[in-house]
Amino acid sequence: MNDVIISPSILSANFANLEQEIQAVQYAGAKWIHVDVMDGHFVPNITIGVPVVKSLRKVTDLILDTHLMIENPEKYIEPFAKAGSDILTFHYEACKNEQHVREVINLIKSFGIKAGLSIKPKTKPEEIFPFLNDIDLVLVMTVEPGFGGQEFMHDCALKIPKIKEKAPDNLIIQVDGGVNNITAKICKSLGATSLVAGSYIYGSNDYKKAIESLL
Ligand code: DX5
Ligand code: ZN
Repeated sequence: MNDVIISPSILSANFANLEQEIQAVQYAGAKWIHVDVMDGHFVPNITIGVPVVKSLRKVTDLILDTHLMIENPEKYIEPFAKAGSDILTFHYEACKNEQHVREVINLIKSFGIKAGLSIKPKTKPEEIFPFLNDIDLVLVMTVEPGFGGQEFMHDCALKIPKIKEKAPDNLIIQVDGGVNNITAKICKSLGATSLVAGSYIYGSNDYKKAIESLL
């Protein structure tokens, strides 16, 4: 049986010591690291950029799962791919039209890495149905993107089965925002195959216990 993939979000980690924070969740069983990139335009917060991803690549072999909450994603795909991201997930709402979404997907794939497409709470799952055969991962946001530590929006989780019904079997369905031991169960029962968790893991005093409680 395949366990759900846990992707600890370093947004809630100690930024003064990311290497140690990544090693700690690796030791606790994590295989992926979720890297939240925010530009202060697409979302009202600024976090980290290309140089940080490049530095992280040098100190970890874990899958770097980079979540781009930025406008004009096409401008930054190459730098983030070359910095060492294994997955680049961008936002449907950051694109002008269907053609734009397809261009960004193809650009990500041209670097031989996985392409993810994310939707914010107000976006209907039907809007991304046309792309489900062309991407590797769908990221369903269960909070408004921008900050860690927000409350899980239950309505958003109901998008998971709708997407799953239309998706190829190997599409990863990831959930991000307000994931804890209770909401993780809901997401898994609805069909999620990957869970992002920031404050729940990094805010706990036992990362291993926290990660295991999400599996
Ligand atoms: C929010 C980010 C999330 C965030 C989740 O915009 O995309 O990845 O780190 O944080 P928690 O798990 O605390 O809700
Ligand atoms: Zn995220």
